[in-house]
Amino acid sequence: MRISRKMEHVHHALQLGHSDEHGFRDIKLIHNCLPGISSDQISLQTSIGELNLSSPIVINAMTGGAHETEEINRELAAAARETGLAMAVGSQMSAIKNPEVESSYRVVRKVNPGGIVFGNLGSEATLEQALRAVDMLRADALQIHLNVMQELIMPEGDREFCGVLERIRTIVDQVGVPVMVKEVGFGMVKESAEALFQCGVRIIDVGGAGGTNFAAIENARRRVPMDWLNDWGCKTTIALLEVLEAKHRNQIDASIIAAGGISRTLEVCKALTLGASAVGMAGSLLKVLREQGTEALVTQIVTLHEELRLLMTAMGANSIERLHEMPVVITGETAEWCAARGVD
Ligand code: FNR
Repeated sequence: MRISRKMEHVHHALQLGHSDEHGFRDIKLIHNCLPGISSDQISLQTSIGELNLSSPIVINAMTGGAHETEEINRELAAAARETGLAMAVGSQMSAIKNPEVESSYRVVRKVNPGGIVFGNLGSEATLEQALRAVDMLRADALQIHLNVMQELIMPEGDREFCGVLERIRTIVDQVGVPVMVKEVGFGMVKESAEALFQCGVRIIDVGGAGGTNFAAIENARRRVPMDWLNDWGCKTTIALLEVLEAKHRNQIDASIIAAGGISRTLEVCKALTLGASAVGMAGSLLKVLREQGTEALVTQIVTLHEELRLLMTAMGANSIERLHEMPVVITGETAEWCAARGVD
């Protein structure tokens, strides 16, 4: 039997790994030799929109929709439950079209009944489909992903991207849970963020380049690859600074999630210091899960939390809000891009 597209994505994501070209090397955190706080005062609590999270790390959307993906979602959900992380499922459109595969998503709520769970659909979704996706999981929020370049590289992908903002506006107004709009690794810029803010979106995941690369993944699936598109998109640090610029310039009370190639504590801390309210991690957590198992994934997340507390102590920030006020130095390509684009 032909391997499902969902499992092909998992295999290729693991095989291709991360490029590490996410821009975080351009960000320097500043040591504070007089932090004036103690480690046991550090709080990792944060909020995105109206949701309160005990950790700023979110397990980002990956999978569901095929038999083999149920096991992955079960294990990710178990790790989320053990560590208190919020978790998104992968696109639920396959279950909306074929209810037989709903269990591969519902397993997440079954394993973690009290956890924070995000549904996920593409921007082609109607309000009715969004309501069904939320209902399927009793989801606390709904992610809507934007993945234009991935679709364009897929021979069977969408070619029509009209009416997206209108559909998002309707869903934001009527779906009844917070809506976050996310990229999948090509990044967002300030103009796109402004358009989303105008539609009432108040949570954006910048999904920048430098981690899981859906151009490379789809090219690995193509008979004739279009490898010249593998560097398309905007690095995570740049996307984050662009979207933060749109938020500040328009004085919007929005929560920004950094994602795209984040795997180490330093990257988590740099993203939060730049102004992200949370960070999404997908490929790097999937790798630990598939190569080392659920227990190792729990250990990895606990270690990230411990190391984040260590860094926050060394910076004198006892909360994520205080981290946002800490100075950083921005160098290299990220600084050059920001200067060219008028991003402060
Ligand atoms: C994804 N991602 C994703 N995103 C989404 O909104 N819906 C989806 O169905 C999927 N599917 C998916 C499958 C696999 C195997 C991976 C690794 C990722 C994208 C993901 O949520 C995230 O935006 C990107 O992967 C960038 O983050 P990382 O992987 O670099 O941390």
